[in-house]
Amino acid sequence: MISPSHIAIIMDGNGRWGLKKYNNRNKGHYYGLLNINKVIEHCIKIKIKYLTLYTFSTENWNRPKKEIDYLFFLFKYFYKKNFNKLNKNNIKIKFIGDLKNIPKDLKIIIKKIEDKTKNNDAITVIFAFNYGAKSELVNAFKNIIKNKTKVNEINEELINNYLYTNNIPDPDILIRTGGEKRLSNFLLWQLSYAELFFINKNWPDFNFFDLKKVIKAFGVTKRKFGGLNE
Ligand code: IPE
Ligand code: IPE
Ligand code: MG
Repeated sequence: MISPSHIAIIMDGNGRWGLKKYNNRNKGHYYGLLNINKVIEHCIKIKIKYLTLYTFSTENWNRPKKEIDYLFFLFKYFYKKNFNKLNKNNIKIKFIGDLKNIPKDLKIIIKKIEDKTKNNDAITVIFAFNYGAKSELVNAFKNIIKNKTKVNEINEELINNYLYTNNIPDPDILIRTGGEKRLSNFLLWQLSYAELFFINKNWPDFNFFDLKKVIKAFGVTKRKFGGLNE
């Protein structure tokens, strides 16, 4: 049995869950947020070292302002309510995404959280916030050119170093809840060799049992990386 060190999750289906249960999409976002705490705890229990969570995509700006405002309110609420506990549980928190173009108050909170948890080492939880893989690559290429990189210096390692995820190993597993089978601009480079799991449950309902099923299926997967695994 092999075990994963990095799990990435597209936490989808909050809106549908909220609509079905409370006739209100935002309720789904609220309960989705509560589930993040539980899933982090499960991941620590099974010794996952990195957990990357897709919380807001560069395309999510296309949603109604009312929903975006609520999501931003929730992020602030989440960090305010949970920061001490996360820090006490030795959780290191990082953010990836276009953090230049988000409200200033959130920028300050993000910086503070990263700073205060930087020496924790039970797990690294990476929040992909205002994240889009294409925008990440555009940003990387711009910086590569800005630094006057020579053509023959460009290789996969160098590109890795210019991504938001530099120093973070690629995910072994991608989980998407909510039933859709697409990547929605998430970690396109880093997921090259991830094992993909699409779960027919909305994010607020995703639980420890579902996670363990994924880990078990991953455990017996033959990862070949283009070779023959003989
Ligand atoms: C994912 O749930 C959470 C965010 C995008 C912030 P959705 O809000 O996309 O839920 P559905 O897919 O509409 O049900
Ligand atoms: C992906 O879900 C983004 C997050 C989970 C944050 P979306 O609901 O935005 O993706 P699409 O629109 O269904 O592709
Ligand atoms: Mg969705």
